[in-house]
Amino acid sequence: SEDKLRFDNRVVVITGAGGGLGKMYAHYFASRGASLVINDYGVSLKGESASSSAADKVVSEIISAGGRAVANYDSVEDGENIIKTAMDSFGRVDVLINNAGILRDKSFIKSTDRDWDLVCQVHLNGAFKVTHAAWPIFRAQKFGRVINTTSPAGIYGNFGQASYSAAKHALIAFSDTLSQEGSKYNILVNCISPIAASRLTETTMPPEILKVLDPKYVVPIVAYLSHESTSATGGLYETAGGYINSIRWELSKGAVFKPDSSFTPAAVKSRYSEITDFTSGNKYPDFKHGVDYLGLMKQAMTQSSNVHDEELCFKDKV
Ligand code: NAI
Repeated sequence: SEDKLRFDNRVVVITGAGGGLGKMYAHYFASRGASLVINDYGVSLKGESASSSAADKVVSEIISAGGRAVANYDSVEDGENIIKTAMDSFGRVDVLINNAGILRDKSFIKSTDRDWDLVCQVHLNGAFKVTHAAWPIFRAQKFGRVINTTSPAGIYGNFGQASYSAAKHALIAFSDTLSQEGSKYNILVNCISPIAASRLTETTMPPEILKVLDPKYVVPIVAYLSHESTSATGGLYETAGGYINSIRWELSKGAVFKPDSSFTPAAVKSRYSEITDFTSGNKYPDFKHGVDYLGLMKQAMTQSSNVHDEELCFKDKV
């Protein structure tokens, strides 16, 4: 129908597209006219035993359905090779979906350096490497769409996932910064936090829940954010089972202290409940790039009387 989003002549690179969510995205974009780079290192959930079969399978499915796709078997840690595959095969890149991922869940006390390094390498450094290789191409053509994949663990934290949550949270900040650097070149960068039935979740949720969480329900927001008609950038969206929301930070009203010798740890202690007060009326609904510190400083300076520079010391009177 008319209202279908099309991706004709677009080249879409999807990392970790050999299974789970990435494979769903791949089939969607191929069915809407895009040429696909199906990257998959073909590893186990823990990131071991690389193979080419996962990517090959999705490529042959797409081709037999009449679509266009090529495989790439590199780890996202070698992101430049993935972008090279796109350039060699199709001569451009328009959309990059950073989706590859592994898990090495352990309580923090049992986590090893290797678990930490591998998880950060794949999720965070991998997204960096692929995006960094695509960025000059996006800039030169003044078009680019990047979707980074965080997780509820990356937003809220999760027991047993210190490495994963840290790497995933970092991707939110990565997206925010790139959205600021990219907007003037029509490079739009967003972050999604999906929940979906895949090998990643099959052991952690009951079958009746997993049925509702079909990965196909994550496709629509990813497609919209990847389309040429979108202007959304710097967003964070949770999506699962047909529900999509948008997340932003909330600031408490905060407390303004006189910048003089009365500004002590004891003063912080006595006004701590004000500092952490989130009751209504204290919201900053429109802030995007953080607090107006200059405004607050001016406010503080007008509140204080006869402040001398030498009083701007932090003498603890506790
Ligand atoms: P999945 O395990 O089914 O798919 C991930 C794919 O990434 C696999 O095919 C794997 O071979 C590939 N991969 C792993 N390391 C790679 C590397 N170094 N280079 C290239 N490919 C690599 O997992 P799923 O569920 O599809 O997850 C996709 C993304 O969504 C991941 O980033 C995951 O952390 C994230 N996510 C998934 C959730 C879910 O409920 N399924 C929840 C929150 C986040």
